[in-house]
Amino acid sequence: MKKRIAVLASGRGSNFQAVLDAIRAGTVPAACVALITDNPEAYAIERAEKAQVPVLIIDYTSFPDRAGYEQALLAAMQECSAELFVLAGYMRILGSGIVRAFPDRIMNIHPALLPSFPGLHAQRQAVLHGVKVAGCTVHFVDECLDGGPIILQACVPVMEDDDEDTLADRILEREHECYPEAIRLFCEDRLVIEGRRVRIC
Ligand code: GAR
Repeated sequence: MKKRIAVLASGRGSNFQAVLDAIRAGTVPAACVALITDNPEAYAIERAEKAQVPVLIIDYTSFPDRAGYEQALLAAMQECSAELFVLAGYMRILGSGIVRAFPDRIMNIHPALLPSFPGLHAQRQAVLHGVKVAGCTVHFVDECLDGGPIILQACVPVMEDDDEDTLADRILEREHECYPEAIRLFCEDRLVIEGRRVRIC
């Protein structure tokens, strides 16, 4: 039985595309029922249109305040009736009301080996810190920024001559493998959350 998933993306949407491709290839038993974006210029919108996925634009700048935007976003998410919300480069923090409305039903991908380097510019933080290994993390979203239970991680080496862009490209290749895999496990009901730990059964 296919699960209904909705993707939230703010920009280029290459992770969104990786998920769409995995669904089309039959490796992820899901139907993507919506793309929600805060950015009317996001390239992810073109990807959604090509795949005939309905697009909901919740443009942050069109609301008088954060509360109005959050209310509209919550309503859009409820309207999707999705079993899973997939944050794929969604660059706004979800308010606690939204996180609480969908417990253990929102996933995020972050371009670092959490709990190292949460927040913005994770790849830059990794290069500046001088770590030798970097990577990506797929995790459930809770009220703590980039802090929810970890589902999957993948690592890549950091090369002597890396800058944030070359490292980001290397990590992105692993993101495109990890995210569909984590979503597949969710759709197959194989993720069991036990406190901070996610058991894959
Ligand atoms: C990805 O690297 C993703 O991990 C990152 O934004 C990029 C989006 O790329 N997300 C974050 O930094 C969230 N904190 P994409 O639009 O091509 O998928």
